[in-house]
Amino acid sequence: MRLNPLTTLILYPFIFASSTSAIWDPSSSLPSRQQPLLKHLEHQSMMDKILSGLIRPQQTAPNEDVNPESSDSPIISDVLPKTKAINVFARLTRDFDAIANRLNDGSKNITVLAPRNSAIQNLPRKPWENPADYEKFGEVNAYEGSDGQDRAKRNLQRFVEAHLIPVSPWRIGEEVETLAGEKLTWTKDGDKMFIQPGNIEVDSVAEKVHNGEVWVLNNVINYRQE
Ligand SMILES: *[C@@H]1O[C@H](CO)[C@@H](O)[C@H](O)[C@H]1NC(C)=O
Repeated sequence: MRLNPLTTLILYPFIFASSTSAIWDPSSSLPSRQQPLLKHLEHQSMMDKILSGLIRPQQTAPNEDVNPESSDSPIISDVLPKTKAINVFARLTRDFDAIANRLNDGSKNITVLAPRNSAIQNLPRKPWENPADYEKFGEVNAYEGSDGQDRAKRNLQRFVEAHLIPVSPWRIGEEVETLAGEKLTWTKDGDKMFIQPGNIEVDSVAEKVHNGEVWVLNNVINYRQE
């Protein structure tokens, strides 16, 4: 995996989710005596970043009170953080204002196709990486500097948008364009639902609220970067 400190900021949800990752544990090779201090410094710098607005604090939502005005009628943005198995994806949706606002709009229906955390973490390349960027800008520079940052963010936004269907209910066989512009349908085989193309298995429909549904996918939607 190729990471630089700036990219790390956008990728925080991934890194956080894979806390066993050696990348995020620079202290692991040091004598254990030094670890508490390092841990503290790590935490300190993370807090600085959160406070300076670079990173949103992790929202641990399950039993948190939702907005009292909407508590009798929750919407997608209220329920998305509730399913732990998809919390990497849920956090990504909050990193882009356009997406967060769409999910927050109770007057617009949406079907969220949320890949399981493991599906995102096991991708052969990370969702912010585009092979074309590496070809064009080189392995080292693809996501360096502010241009590189912007590229990584755009790629990541597109990844999220490829998993958002701007209708609900989404009927079997109905072809709909995702917010990223790819046409998808879904089919059934016995009791199992599959997203097409790609035959991506829907593990479950985790939530149904008045403006939409959250589906948990066992894999990611095959998305094109450009
Ligand atoms: C939005 O979803 C609700 C609940 O499923 C449904 O009753 C309503 O018809 C949907 N609205 C549109 C415009 O699809």
